[in-house]
Amino acid sequence: MPDATGDATRAAHAGLPAAEPFRPPMPGPVMSAYFHLPGDPTGAPYAYGRETNPTWTALETAVAELESPGEPAHAAVFASGMAAVAAVLFGHLRPGDTVVVPSDGYHGVHQLGDRLGEFGVTVRQVATADTEGQLAALADARLLWLETPANPGLDTCDIRALADAARERGVLVAVDNTLPTPLGQRPLELGADLSVASGTKGFSGHGDVLLGYVATRDAALLGPVRTWRSCVGAVPGPMETWLAHRGMATLPLRLERQSANALAIARRLLERGDVADVRYPGLPGDPGHAVAAAQMSAFGGVVSFTLPDRAHAERFLAALRVIGEATSFGGVRSMAERRARWTEPPAGPTPGDGAGEVSAADDPAGAHPAAQVPPGFIRLSVGIEDAADLIADVDRALDETARSAD
Ligand SMILES: Cc1ncc(COP(=O)(O)O)c(C=O)c1O
Repeated sequence: MPDATGDATRAAHAGLPAAEPFRPPMPGPVMSAYFHLPGDPTGAPYAYGRETNPTWTALETAVAELESPGEPAHAAVFASGMAAVAAVLFGHLRPGDTVVVPSDGYHGVHQLGDRLGEFGVTVRQVATADTEGQLAALADARLLWLETPANPGLDTCDIRALADAARERGVLVAVDNTLPTPLGQRPLELGADLSVASGTKGFSGHGDVLLGYVATRDAALLGPVRTWRSCVGAVPGPMETWLAHRGMATLPLRLERQSANALAIARRLLERGDVADVRYPGLPGDPGHAVAAAQMSAFGGVVSFTLPDRAHAERFLAALRVIGEATSFGGVRSMAERRARWTEPPAGPTPGDGAGEVSAADDPAGAHPAAQVPPGFIRLSVGIEDAADLIADVDRALDETARSAD
């Protein structure tokens, strides 16, 4: 896109065609499974809908511009965030390779790690805030996977320092950029090889789309990722792709509002005596703040805190009126959940009958666990509503929780 230096201009225009009289500024989704293809298919831009689609091309161009303004980059869009994560891991790892992943990051990566293990890949888990541990784990590794801030605990790590160390050792670095979005953090500018995200969350932001993407400045790194996408058919629908692209124009506004609201709620939570471990990377006193402030331009809408136990957390969630109970984040509507619900035994079972094991089928949202979080841990995804209404909702629900505990 010509002459754009600001994120908001870029978000509104990236990936759209040059203005032409009587043509739409944003062409509609191309709903086609195949394209006319006479003769030799070599070099055909569009042949079959599992390989390429013009609506993907538009969003891929936009994602590349947002993740890497001013420096050429390439992107591939996927059916979901996990489809994008899997394309990087299975596209780039081979039997005998080692991958280092965060022990406290999105659990879907651990589930994939189990599959990778079955194919002869060694998976090392290290906590996001444990820089020494990450450096040590790089020995003989092929890929370092980072997630900062990590979901759900919100610890951070220094992407540039780790990417520099990884490069010296010939290790590829991929960063899950789901929570910050490309307007909140740019891993490629910080030295990462690949930026990977679930577009389902803040990027598309309206809770109506499942999507993922991979972006890189190195076209050769995208090759195996695209090949994996075509092989397994992990492709996004044209309508989803178009919706995400359309919504991208408001990402700067949404992110700004979510970040401001999240900071206001985090501050309010700190003032209250009845919640523990308030975490938000935008809080100056947060353990992850210094690193976050150095590499993020917005801290996003996810706040976490801990109530005394499961009963308190369930009462709190039931008492909320504006904030919904759901398992996602980054959307326009605020939502919260008791994160440990994904790992705990269902109510009532006797020990030893499999209680405590959550199968993928039991967890269709793929939200899977947070085994590392205590029973009263709340992940709060702050939306774009009025801050005063959200704070009042949280205050009222916490007051009701305290009263019903008396
Ligand atoms: C950090 C992170 N990465 C990846 C994913 C997977 O995204 P999706 O649900 O779109 O497959 C999630 C989903 O919650 C996530 O939180």
